[in-house]
Amino acid sequence: MAAVLLCFLLASPVLLAASSPVSGSNNGTVPLVLWHGMGDSCCNPLSMGAIKKMMEEEIPGIYVLSLMIGKNVVQDTENGFFMDVNQQVSLVCSQLAQDARLKGGFNAMGFSQGAQFLRAVAQRCPSPPMKTLISVGGQHQGVYGLPRCPGESSHICDVIRKALNSGAYSDMVQKHLVQAQYWHDPLNDDLYKKHSLFLADINQERAVNETYKKNLQLLEKFVMVKFLQDSVVDPVVSEWFGFLKTGQAKETETLQESLLYKEDRLGLAAMDKAGKLVFLATEGDHLQFTREWFNANLLPYLR
Ligand SMILES: *[C@@H]1O[C@H](CO)[C@@H](O)[C@H](O)[C@H]1NC(C)=O
Ligand SMILES: *[C@@H]1O[C@H](CO)[C@@H](O)[C@H](O)[C@H]1NC(C)=O
Repeated sequence: MAAVLLCFLLASPVLLAASSPVSGSNNGTVPLVLWHGMGDSCCNPLSMGAIKKMMEEEIPGIYVLSLMIGKNVVQDTENGFFMDVNQQVSLVCSQLAQDARLKGGFNAMGFSQGAQFLRAVAQRCPSPPMKTLISVGGQHQGVYGLPRCPGESSHICDVIRKALNSGAYSDMVQKHLVQAQYWHDPLNDDLYKKHSLFLADINQERAVNETYKKNLQLLEKFVMVKFLQDSVVDPVVSEWFGFLKTGQAKETETLQESLLYKEDRLGLAAMDKAGKLVFLATEGDHLQFTREWFNANLLPYLR
């Protein structure tokens, strides 16, 4: 959801590497695709722009693509609230397929809702191949609550809360509200399974799509970062693919305790056994981390 608030900005001297000179070669580095969170955009100099810059400093020659959904930054931000997620994923799939510099494969890093969306890309569009997926505060089992809103969008959040309360699973709300598409109501599990246009589909809540299962397992690593003091995502355990136990809204269960895992409907148990799932936790509120933490914990997966 929220925009990334980077604490390291003050300290970072800007030493930009020239953007990759030889198209198709990437200078021996693995390209990185970023998908921003709710209320944010591809190119905000305080969030995705800063991450892109930082990556270019840490890995000279790397090609970083920060996804823009729409024609400009304003559309990109609005689409993060109002554009059908399945449509967004399919736009991104064709953009990636047409990018010559990604042919040999790429790593992906999604922030908040951008992380679920990139997982959908991995499950639906295996070419070009995604190597490692890093989910930074992604809500892989959705949310049941919107306790605090990102930055300056509190008005939009009021509108969203009203719409969700009026019926998150109505066709109208599902089609037009991004957050409804990963709204997961444990008290209305049947409605969720039947009517969630996006999350219930990629989480195999209806029929198991063997293609999703096969494609997800093509990842070399799936890294999930959870923020220990997260005040935006409810429940926080969704950032590690856990959720509330069905039928109540208090007790949570881990991924490993879930039916999704036990029946291995998505291949996550197999990936876990193969050492492909990485669970990281960090102190701090939603999407807040330092450059030191990033370099020590995430950078090694991107080299
Ligand atoms: C990529 O290019 C930069 C200069 O643009 C150079 O410093 C760096 O060593 C190169 N990296 C590799 C892996 O070739
Ligand atoms: C399974 O997913 C693939 C990839 O998105 C899709 O082409 C196919 O139609 C899906 N199959 C079913 C039965 O939904």
